[in-house]
Amino acid sequence: MENEGFPGELFQELTKKGQAHLVQGWDKLSLDQKGSLVSQIKKIDFDLILSLWTNRNNTAPSLAPVDLAAPDFFDPEKEPEEEANCRQLGNKALSQGKVACVLVAGGQGTRFGASVPKGCMAVGPLSGKSLFQMHAERILALARRFGPSIPLLVMTSPATHEATQAFFAEHRNFGLFPDQVHFFCQGTMPALDWDTGKVLLEAPGLIFASPDGHGGCLAALAEKGWLKWMETKQIEQVFYFQVDNPLVKIADPLFLGHHLKTKAEVSSRFVTKERAGEKVGVFAQTKDGADGSRCILLEYSDLTDEQTVSLAPDGELLFRCGSPAIHIFSRRFLEDIAPGHARLPYHLARKKVSFMDETGKLVVPLTENALKFEKFVFDALPLAKRWALVRSLRHEEFAPLKNASGKDSPETVRAGILGRNRAWLASVFSGRGIAFSLPDDCIIELSPLLALDAADLAKQLELTDLDSLLSQAKGGSLHLMAAGE
Ligand code: UTP
Repeated sequence: MENEGFPGELFQELTKKGQAHLVQGWDKLSLDQKGSLVSQIKKIDFDLILSLWTNRNNTAPSLAPVDLAAPDFFDPEKEPEEEANCRQLGNKALSQGKVACVLVAGGQGTRFGASVPKGCMAVGPLSGKSLFQMHAERILALARRFGPSIPLLVMTSPATHEATQAFFAEHRNFGLFPDQVHFFCQGTMPALDWDTGKVLLEAPGLIFASPDGHGGCLAALAEKGWLKWMETKQIEQVFYFQVDNPLVKIADPLFLGHHLKTKAEVSSRFVTKERAGEKVGVFAQTKDGADGSRCILLEYSDLTDEQTVSLAPDGELLFRCGSPAIHIFSRRFLEDIAPGHARLPYHLARKKVSFMDETGKLVVPLTENALKFEKFVFDALPLAKRWALVRSLRHEEFAPLKNASGKDSPETVRAGILGRNRAWLASVFSGRGIAFSLPDDCIIELSPLLALDAADLAKQLELTDLDSLLSQAKGGSLHLMAAGE
């Protein structure tokens, strides 16, 4: 018998669910491979994935657009006093060690197409610092300003885990203490054949699995004990960010302070949409119900044409709040939703997936043949009763690396970093009443260890002769670093 030794009940179950092909090649597997296949199969919730497969063509949004309104938000530029108060609160929380940072870096970066995790990509315009280094150094700089070290929890996936850990080790954690950096691996989901609903095999005994989306971090934080760990460290707030954005102001005191002041369970940054048709997820709020109003993030395609172009009384787009994927969650909120993390819906995507057919041959499909499942972190937003949105300036905080060329590519990321650096430096000059006369093509790099924002840069350069900086930049570049770097 070909499947001799395979657990009988499990085989019956597989047969009932149309998945008996998973046992294909069983008699040729080693003992270890057999054990591994059984455990891979046991982890799959077949009822769930098959019901998702059955509804794969139903793409209607879960909320009718008429039930949505433009969200309330805080714009720090319009309320400088409030900004100062928030900043103080944020500073206090950081100096009390109340904050942990969660960096999600488990994505496969298929659009970018590198053979290493995206976080290893060099983005420093002069230094060639990687995305991981940029983020780690910002955390180090925060610790130097505020005292206690801030933990960095890096979520990886089976696709990125080893390479990410090795990269940090090779670079001695970019200066962070070894007990400050932690890695945890997210869960995976199988892929199904789009037409038949059969789970795809990658090789004999190996089920094709891909990371379960950035939303998988909520389950992984709870299941792997990190929420408990935070509790023991008296950490109350979790700053969530994505690896591909070198400009993210990790644990920004202003954002953090506003989150604390409003006692929000979740706060999100937003950047104003560049134009009505920009393809970016936008925040909205549900109309007040018995339960108050909830914040949700909509796909741009979920808005009606009318909503997409409607203007608010201030002349800006009504639904203007695009998401740069920067959030703060209170730890308690994450604990509260943890037992129900299954409530986060799966998003379905039709993708090309190479697989092993029933003759044992590897098939590389020419068209999208498979159904993949991912959870998105922003689906946790509507679970929060208290939430806040805080405006951020796109050129200050958002330049994601998604593609190899064109939009959101290394060129646009570089332009974003250079533009932000130039703006910070220009503000230092104007603050001191000195004309800023660097040629447009001067390459300016500011180390994250030197300055956290424009005001911090002004402070760090208080005693620096700005004219000497101008003459340094005559060679076409200016690289400002922290002392001892
Ligand atoms: P994206 O959705 O842009 O995915 O991830 P990606 O993997 O980087 O790129 P594509 O879509 O395959 O081209 C946004 C952030 O979420 C993380 C990514 O590492 C990135 O920081 N992410 C995404 C995960 O941590 N796990 C996932 O399963 C998916």
